[in-house]
Amino acid sequence: MPVEFDRQKLELALKAGRNWEKSPFSLHIFDSVTSTNQTLWNLLAQGEKPGSVVIATQQTSGRGQWGRQWISHPGGLYLSVAIALKLEASASYQLTLASAWGIADQLRSCGVDVGIKWPNDLVLNSRKLGGILTETKINNGYITQAVIGVGINWTNPVPETGINLEMWQAAYATKPISCLEILTSTVLRGIESGMECLSQEGINILLSRYLELLTNVGDKVYIDDLAGTVVGVTSQGRLRVSMETYDTTDIKTTELYIEPGTISLGYRKSSVPL
Ligand code: BTN
Repeated sequence: MPVEFDRQKLELALKAGRNWEKSPFSLHIFDSVTSTNQTLWNLLAQGEKPGSVVIATQQTSGRGQWGRQWISHPGGLYLSVAIALKLEASASYQLTLASAWGIADQLRSCGVDVGIKWPNDLVLNSRKLGGILTETKINNGYITQAVIGVGINWTNPVPETGINLEMWQAAYATKPISCLEILTSTVLRGIESGMECLSQEGINILLSRYLELLTNVGDKVYIDDLAGTVVGVTSQGRLRVSMETYDTTDIKTTELYIEPGTISLGYRKSSVPL
């Protein structure tokens, strides 16, 4: 059965509890696109403004991190938001950290126990619930436009290491998120609050909030066959790994900074009960 997205329901959810004269979001809703990120870049090139949002029921070439494909069957949430900003190009990862924190925080305030897996995964019960793909346009060393793309598993089928919200809500006999439109509005509010935190309170406060929701602190990782322990994330989005090296007289601790995409922290398989 085709999944119909209800624009009016989303508009009502976005408005709830706010005193807007005009919504900051301009919604573009499609049945099927190649990638909501790509469709939004096309709309921006035609003159659409920041605050534009593209939502699609399905994507035929959904883009994931590190050039991977994001399988996008109907039933999932696929959305992209355009953001206007001026940020040094080297700080681009802050947009992903801000979105991940904002979305996880909003879902948690609805009662969904979401955490963050470095750098950009939303996790529930140690499985992947969704991901974020930030794309930027850079002029003279500064990001001048960004598209934040978010995919979240709602009722769509997921791989062994994934989870969708319908499965989780059924297993816990709870339904904090009643429909796809409420999920969409929660995600948009999350991106908004993440960007607000970054621009008004700054990267250090944002990072401390991100770290509170990071599920990887204390994880053992192996780098060049040496064991290390995850101790945090830097403001540029690198993973901080503490390594202990021994010689005959001494134990030395050093910290390594790992670029996103160069190691994978992995997921548990579905043998783990919900
Ligand atoms: C990841 O690899 O974890 C990030 C996945 C991001 C997928 C979303 S779905 C909506 C938006 N459009 C895309 O093509 N990708 C992002």
